[in-house]
Amino acid sequence: MALGPTRGHPHRPDRRPRLRRPRGSDRLREVLAAYLRRVRAAAAEPEHLVICGGFVQGLDLLLRTLAHAGHHAIAVEDPGYGDDKTRAAITGAGLRPVPVPVDDRGLDVAALAAADVRAVLVTPAHQRPTGVVLTPERRRALTTWAAARDALIIEDDYDAEFRYDREPVGSLQGLAPQHVAVLGTVSKSLAPAIRLGWVLAPPPFTERVARQKSISDRGSPVLDQLALAALLRSGRYDRHLRRTRTTYAAPPRRPHRRPGPPRPRRNPHRPSRRLSRRRPSARLYR
Ligand SMILES: Cc1ncc(COP(=O)(O)O)c(C=O)c1O
Repeated sequence: MALGPTRGHPHRPDRRPRLRRPRGSDRLREVLAAYLRRVRAAAAEPEHLVICGGFVQGLDLLLRTLAHAGHHAIAVEDPGYGDDKTRAAITGAGLRPVPVPVDDRGLDVAALAAADVRAVLVTPAHQRPTGVVLTPERRRALTTWAAARDALIIEDDYDAEFRYDREPVGSLQGLAPQHVAVLGTVSKSLAPAIRLGWVLAPPPFTERVARQKSISDRGSPVLDQLALAALLRSGRYDRHLRRTRTTYAAPPRRPHRRPGPPRPRRNPHRPSRRLSRRRPSARLYR
């Protein structure tokens, strides 16, 4: 018998194509959009989200999209996050990085306006490495610059909802959704090894970003996406953030020392008693 191509049951819809979604799982994009609206004051809709492998992949997708659209350069904060690696990602996508200074109010928007660029990468909520928050005047100046030049602001929102040292500021994207693409990640809130993030792009960009994602890897792992969707939907992600913020904000605990005479110094040649405590528990063998 000749083995032709396998066909599904004629009355059952073939679900396989649904697993290959360069934009990411529908379920995750739906709960994530609601979360970003609620927590980051972002103008987020599921159809404008592309799930990706953390900030790094999201940046690469946006840079390639910009290069396709005819951009030759992008402004970056000086100093900025991962200077050498960010520069390598930019040149790898065929663009030229243009450093713009950062002062105690964040990115110098006047210096940006003097540069010949129509795109900029910024960390408005928590500048890395200086820790400065972009002031309200600078935020306004930046979105005005983007509107006047029809430019794209790439907002690296890597740890905004995770702030424990001050009230988090809202996302820049909420002020100018047509000119801001947000890059979000769970690297700070959960763990960098999870490699899950998102691009919230202005509507005309979303399709082009999804196309780049499809070229890059066809879509992020679905199980990881569904796990994050479940975490967000159940409210456990919020609870986790509340708990970790309190833990991080607490002053570091000092080691407890009992008052009394100084303890004798341990003989360095005696084998450590701690080793014996490391014996596996008998319960393991029951
Ligand atoms: C400024 C900045 N952006 C992004 C990230 C996270 O990058 P990724 O999501 O690729 O792990 C970090 C992590 O330390 C960071 O400091």
